[in-house]
Amino acid sequence: MSGKKPICLTGIKPTGMPHLGNYIGAIKPAIEMGNSGEFESFYFIADYHSLIGVHKAQDLKNYTYEVAAAWLAMGLDPDKITLYRQSDIPEILELNWILSCFTIKGLMNRAHAYKALVQDNEENQRDVDHGINMGLFTYPILMAADILFLKSNIVPVGADQVQHIEIARDIAQNFNHNYGETFVLPKAYVRENAKLMVGLDGRKMSKSYNNHIPLFSTSKELKKLINKITTDSTDPSVPKNPDDSLIFEMFQEFATPAEVAELRAWYLRGIGWGEAKMELHKILDQHLAEPREIYAELMSDKTKIDRILKAGEEKVRPKASLFLKEVKKTIGVL
Ligand code: TRP
Repeated sequence: MSGKKPICLTGIKPTGMPHLGNYIGAIKPAIEMGNSGEFESFYFIADYHSLIGVHKAQDLKNYTYEVAAAWLAMGLDPDKITLYRQSDIPEILELNWILSCFTIKGLMNRAHAYKALVQDNEENQRDVDHGINMGLFTYPILMAADILFLKSNIVPVGADQVQHIEIARDIAQNFNHNYGETFVLPKAYVRENAKLMVGLDGRKMSKSYNNHIPLFSTSKELKKLINKITTDSTDPSVPKNPDDSLIFEMFQEFATPAEVAELRAWYLRGIGWGEAKMELHKILDQHLAEPREIYAELMSDKTKIDRILKAGEEKVRPKASLFLKEVKKTIGVL
């Protein structure tokens, strides 16, 4: 271990252009962490995870490029963070099977995402298994394979993914218990005071609620969306609580401490919601203008993304095959 940096890994599920909530909650902290150089960082596009729900080839392909372009445009430095595509590392799927034989079925039954769907079916008087494929049911096992094959120490994720990391630990422990120390037990890292960003209507920001702000909206679209943020009808002159304001929360993520202090003071003196929205628009536009251009460039000529993903694959695959060989010896198939 001496002198070796801890391994930091995270997976990005391609579901199209990320929104502001994704950026603030996941992309920004993960990029900061990876670019810091404190870790040996591996970030990958979890395209096989998307396959549980995306069943159109062109969609899956586009989503993969969109998400890679978004992370690169927002500052992921491929020299500091190895970026690769899950499906380029077939060893993950071999490990997936091996791990599935050490996964208690009940553990999958208890996974939040699966449970929520079962509950939804029950509430709507549908068959409990309606719309649930086996990929969805065993999703956490593939995640465990993603994490364990690289001996990841730390996995930055949103709060909704913590259970999945715990499941990966459980699976690894089961295996280690039987064969001796083979897998490194990963730890989830959730940004302190991480909140799920709420959307324009006050519910959690999510594409499925259509209350989100796409990260690379044009300046005009941004303005329109910001104007949709639900506010109350208190008079502009009434002091407002900045810590209870989505507008302020988003502003904070982009502004300098001095700018934050200034807006905070304005809230406390009394600010009109129209004015607050204008300030938010200004700061977002200022910080997103350049990434918006880089994003468009990367999407118009995909060879650069292809090159980066290829370089990632070439770096990761040898590690994967070496470790898988070890695991296969351990279980007695080699
Ligand atoms: N399930 C994660 C999400 O939806 C994505 C993911 C796949 C992941 N494999 C992973 C995250 C491994 C961390 C580690 O956000």
